[in-house]
Amino acid sequence: MADPLAEMFAGLLPERLPEPVAAEAYAPSNIALSKYWGKRDPVLNLPLNSSLSISLGTWGTTTQIGPSEQDRFAFNGEAMDLDAPLAARAFRFVDLFRQGQGPALAIDTKNTIPTAAGLASSASGFAALTLALDQTFGLGLDRGALSRMARVGSGSAARSLWDGFVRWDRGEKADGSDSVARRLGLDWPEFRIAIVAVDTGPKEQSSRDGMGHTAATSPLFPPWPDRAEADCAAVEAAILAKDFERLGEVAEANALAMHATMLAARPRLSYLKPASWAVLERVWAARNEGRTIFATMDAGANVKLIFLEDEAEEMAARFPEAQIIAPFDQAPAPETRSRPPA
Ligand code: PMV
Repeated sequence: MADPLAEMFAGLLPERLPEPVAAEAYAPSNIALSKYWGKRDPVLNLPLNSSLSISLGTWGTTTQIGPSEQDRFAFNGEAMDLDAPLAARAFRFVDLFRQGQGPALAIDTKNTIPTAAGLASSASGFAALTLALDQTFGLGLDRGALSRMARVGSGSAARSLWDGFVRWDRGEKADGSDSVARRLGLDWPEFRIAIVAVDTGPKEQSSRDGMGHTAATSPLFPPWPDRAEADCAAVEAAILAKDFERLGEVAEANALAMHATMLAARPRLSYLKPASWAVLERVWAARNEGRTIFATMDAGANVKLIFLEDEAEEMAARFPEAQIIAPFDQAPAPETRSRPPA
């Protein structure tokens, strides 16, 4: 039987890959305001529901690729064994591009995300790797095609090809050609996101395994995909209307619903720790006192807070441990502002 992944890449790449040249690319990390949780196709990495994220400006990954006598991989300046999980995962992805043609490559990848923030970097990592591969082979692919390719490395990487608010459409087609992300054409300079690091160690279960286990065993999972699709539409509408209260309410409820599906899995899956719940209680107390601050959590214990600039001072007083990001503040790399073709 044909390999659907090889077929997908062959459809996007030239038959003969040009000789690689030195290239460098940057991609931001992102946090979903409406979550992707569950796959409709685990091989092509197609989601059951659409999702929408905010990119994290200068928090991301820079990846350099160049020709080499043999494959090499370095992470944050340190050479790694090609058998190490990170290097092996990266080269499995690179091999989808090389299609057995095999020019050796040296990959040097660096995160600009503070380790203390405890954020997973697979989204920015695979997005930067995809952009760097596009450049090293002079492919000139459009962002939509690059988003589809990055998605195969890590679902959330499909959204890291752009800055700002990015929506990843689930798509309907079996080959995933319509499961593509795109940037919302709107900036919200007052939008802030803060990371409250609770646990910066490696996570107990990967999101891939976690979503597979939840979908297979949780009695709360069946209603999730429709709910998540509706939440994604509501988050998008709230952003376009710049209705922050509505955005925060839906984003927080969506994250809690996702965690509820995990807690109901058998056996239970609990990424949140007592310290995560303590942060949530502080957020809810702040809201009861009239503050407009909302929370979201991913497949890990850390809590991310969203608010507008006018709450920044109050935020800093209530959550002095939080690291605040102004995602629209830095001038992003011009290429991350491009839109996929309509
Ligand atoms: O792309 P992955 O496999 O790292 O999964 C991401 C899952 C969540 O972070 C929990 C949600 C999301 O949409 O980013």
